[in-house]
Amino acid sequence: MSQLPLPNFIEVAQTLERDDLVRIYSSDGLTPINERVDLELKYTDLLITTAEFNRKLVSYQGNKRVTFHSWLKYKEGFSAELVENLLDKFRVASGQTILDPFAGSGTTLLVAQGRGVNAVGIDVLPICHVVWNAKAQYRQFDVQTLHNIKEWVSSNSPKGGSSFPHIPITASAFSEEHERKLMGYKEYVDGLDLDAATRNLLQLVFMSILEDISFTRKDGQYLRWDTRSKKAQHRDRRRVEKGMNPYRKFTKSLILDVESALVDALDRIIRDIEQVKDAPVLDSKQQLIAGTVLEILPKQPSEQFDAVITSPPYCNRYDYTRTYALELAFLGLSHEDIVRLRQEQLSCTVENRSKLDQLNAFYSEIGREGDFSEITHVIDQNKALQEVFSVIESRAERGDLNNKGVVQMVRGYFTELAFVIYELFRTAKPGASIAIVNDNVRYGGEIIPVDLIMTDLASAFGFNPIIIYSLQQRKGNSSQQMGKYGREALRKSITIWKKPDSNPEHSMEAN
Ligand SMILES: C[S@@+](CC[C@H](N)C(=O)[O-])C[C@H]1O[C@@H](n2cnc3c(N)ncnc32)[C@H](O)[C@@H]1O
Repeated sequence: MSQLPLPNFIEVAQTLERDDLVRIYSSDGLTPINERVDLELKYTDLLITTAEFNRKLVSYQGNKRVTFHSWLKYKEGFSAELVENLLDKFRVASGQTILDPFAGSGTTLLVAQGRGVNAVGIDVLPICHVVWNAKAQYRQFDVQTLHNIKEWVSSNSPKGGSSFPHIPITASAFSEEHERKLMGYKEYVDGLDLDAATRNLLQLVFMSILEDISFTRKDGQYLRWDTRSKKAQHRDRRRVEKGMNPYRKFTKSLILDVESALVDALDRIIRDIEQVKDAPVLDSKQQLIAGTVLEILPKQPSEQFDAVITSPPYCNRYDYTRTYALELAFLGLSHEDIVRLRQEQLSCTVENRSKLDQLNAFYSEIGREGDFSEITHVIDQNKALQEVFSVIESRAERGDLNNKGVVQMVRGYFTELAFVIYELFRTAKPGASIAIVNDNVRYGGEIIPVDLIMTDLASAFGFNPIIIYSLQQRKGNSSQQMGKYGREALRKSITIWKKPDSNPEHSMEAN
């Protein structure tokens, strides 16, 4: 597994032999690995390490300064450049229709809009809809109104009377002064006579500054709390009372002033709108549907998408409802709403419960019991996946997992993804190409080749696996896992599949 930098666009095929794979997969020799090794060998010809895609491209980093895309720092997003690249690769033309079933901040939809490509997105998280509505309606905003608001903000320091709609996990996220100012500016905006699109845009503006003006930082699985916050102090006091050490000190180097953060956000938005307001618009339609993909996609008509570009949540315990708690609370979601939303997300946290009964009931309700049985049959027959389920369970029994919820998370994650992949096949047009960005993971020393398992499920549902691009920069392991199980870094991949063309004459490989 070469780590030497590859010149751009040079691709290197995987050359691992069975012995190499056995070494990589067996951490302590206590659990079976054969099915995963066989799976690696089955797809070895498709595994290509490439410098064409890098970490910046498959993450939000690449969007940081891109017009519109930078309006909300959605750290789980991929870059507009990646979507452009894939649309080129798949030769998606204006007038065609693409799907992103985990649309997030709308990167795929926005790129489609710029190219006159129709797009359907789905996302369960309410903040994504505020972001998309703002980006999609950029032509409707009156720039002078935004300038006036910005001027008012920079020359007034209101004393807000209302309080932030906190839920237990956000309490004390702001200093009193910051919270007072934030709510003061919000009251000012609420009192203006504005149309619905501008109100939505201003909601996005407020949402986009919450982390920067708070004592919190989004940190993977959780929100991290600055030691100066009441919550962190309270937590530490309780630990000390119990004879434990306080948490390691964490101080944010910069907590922005509310007014300068608002002015910066408005500046950026005004600049972007002014930059493109006279650009020609290509006729096309993009739509973001609210709700869970597990119920929305099965209701979509068959064979309508020319391509799919997406990135589901990774199987990495990242809890969007925790990291985006401030933004969700700001939008008025209650604690109960957030708990419900966590369960609706594709299982990627240790708190997720099985959705299988729910899916069973849902597929019966829509008269597709046969499809439910077919999907669960494919899951049950997938040997590598069954090996993963069983080794993760035995790791839990041996006490090798630091949270037993990982067992259900992994089971739920692949079960639900199988339903999504099945529906992707059904809704894709013959000849459609599919690109899925995902990371492999490891728990209790067990490597889970997410890219290959997804590909194998896709193949069982009828897709032709085309290529699995593996990024040259792999994903580091936690130092704990590295110490215990060796230094093998994990693949970050873009898997490409294709629905067979009904007319073989037109068949075209994704190049
Ligand atoms: C990795 S992010 C996608 C980011 C997106 N590519 C972008 O550029 O912003 C995964 C998204 O899946 C969404 N999601 C998770 N579970 C879902 C579900 N059951 N139905 C629909 N969307 C879901 C999350 O809310 C999140 O926005």
